Amino acid sequence: DASDIEKGTYPHYMLKEIDEQPLVMRKIIQAYQDINGDLTIDSDIIQAMNEADRIYIVACGTSYHAGLVGKQMIEKLAEVPVEVHVASEMGYNMPLLSNKPLFIFISQSGETADSRAVLVKVKELGYKAITITNVPGSTLSREADYTLLLHAGPEIAVASTKAYTAQIAVLAILASVTGNKGDLDLVHELGIVANAMEVLCDSKEEFEKMAYEYFTLTRNAFFIGRALDYYVCLEGALKLKEISYIQAEGFAGGELKHGTIALIEDGTPIIALATQENVNWSIRGNVKEVVARGANPCIISMKGFETDEDRFVVPEVHELLTPLVSVVPLQLLAYYAALHRDCDVDKPRNLAKSVTVE
Ligand code: AGP
Repeated sequence: DASDIEKGTYPHYMLKEIDEQPLVMRKIIQAYQDINGDLTIDSDIIQAMNEADRIYIVACGTSYHAGLVGKQMIEKLAEVPVEVHVASEMGYNMPLLSNKPLFIFISQSGETADSRAVLVKVKELGYKAITITNVPGSTLSREADYTLLLHAGPEIAVASTKAYTAQIAVLAILASVTGNKGDLDLVHELGIVANAMEVLCDSKEEFEKMAYEYFTLTRNAFFIGRALDYYVCLEGALKLKEISYIQAEGFAGGELKHGTIALIEDGTPIIALATQENVNWSIRGNVKEVVARGANPCIISMKGFETDEDRFVVPEVHELLTPLVSVVPLQLLAYYAALHRDCDVDKPRNLAKSVTVE
């Protein structure tokens, strides 16, 4: 119950929950470690993962965005093809399924009606499902065959923050344990992520300034990135629109010129993420294209790939785990943008924490 959970000295749950992310990373590592310190997942789940010829991730909103990152991790580490579906669409339009599908439902609350509607269908068809949720005993957890918990502690703010990073961390663990890749020391890498998140949480003043600079007067904003950065852009845009009411869109860098670039005007804020080595120069090329049309660029890059033009450089982490750190500046930018615009950060208009209607 929200009223039981203390905000402590925090003005808003959202800020508290953003700050909890390093701790949540460490809790997840602990929760999934065996007595030897190795990461472990219930052997039935690993067996289900290994037997599947295709994995279908089903979720809504922020959890869907975590699923997009999870797809990359599972395909790279476990080498099983993955499709990611928005639950509300899949509910009435089941894709052609593979011979041995396995379903993964991602839901912070475990109560989202759109996701549940798909789970009910999947069970009717006789297929296996894993639920990744923050709430033990929730509907989606009870009705699935297996549950993986987020260990993020209650998330009260309507805008999901720590659940998103927890979902990605748990998906990384699932992918790496399934793939059994000896070359990735995920305990170590997630520890580096936790430290990097701490550095970002200690940079609040800078993000407050940036939010003031980019979002005080604007009516719209664009987030661009390529590869994993693109998925984080979708999440950054959702955060900004749901709590600050600024119209925001996340785009794949290369897709801009196919239409959206028409919207760029003098001063339009463009937040660009540059944490991916193989697309570092192409995303910077996209920034140049919009700057030439008057956009106000804000490049957030990762150590190792930074240039002088960047507005903020996040600490370096493993290339598959960059969403865990690059999202933190976007969460904080959304938070301060909402604050500067006098919005109700924890309870934005028209939104509920868990959407229990279809
Ligand atoms: C996130 O900030 C949103 N409030 C929303 O998109 C949310 O992620 C979505 O409704 C899914 O909720 P769930 O994870 O509890 O299923």
